[in-house]
Amino acid sequence: MTEELVIATTGDKKEKYNILLPQLESLVAGESDITANLANIAAALKETFDFFWVGFYLVKDDALVLGPFQGPIACTRIAYGKGVCGTSWQKKEVIVVPDVDQFPGHIACNSASRSEIVLPAIKNGKVALILDVDSDKLNGFDEVDHAGLMGVIRIIESIL
Ligand code: SME
Repeated sequence: MTEELVIATTGDKKEKYNILLPQLESLVAGESDITANLANIAAALKETFDFFWVGFYLVKDDALVLGPFQGPIACTRIAYGKGVCGTSWQKKEVIVVPDVDQFPGHIACNSASRSEIVLPAIKNGKVALILDVDSDKLNGFDEVDHAGLMGVIRIIESIL
């Protein structure tokens, strides 16, 4: 397995995703435990992009339950249809929130979070988990993040 992450230092954000994604693939290839893999993916994303908060919520019965993450402590449970994460679960859609104050029902796990992107990972037609990334800046996520993080979701879906 890859033991040290190679991070693009000269390229732009797209280049960083391009260098990160194959490393994530090899990182998860040698490990069958989903918790271990999600933990390393969260750490790799934090190390590469220095996101304010990055982590996973896992679908368990009727709630999303906090999984591996990097950043400040966070809400442990989110109900179906609630907040950005619960809405992404309900709609099975990626949700980009440029300003969390403009998203009705946004759940503020940390008051420093200003923008957010949430992406669901699907197994057998159902959302199995969601990837949540928070920024402490407004408009923290653009189409490059959307595409790059979808690449992360595809890797996760391949091991679910
Ligand atoms: N803001 C999210 C809650 C999770 S934290 O951001 C880590 C939401 O509204 O669902």
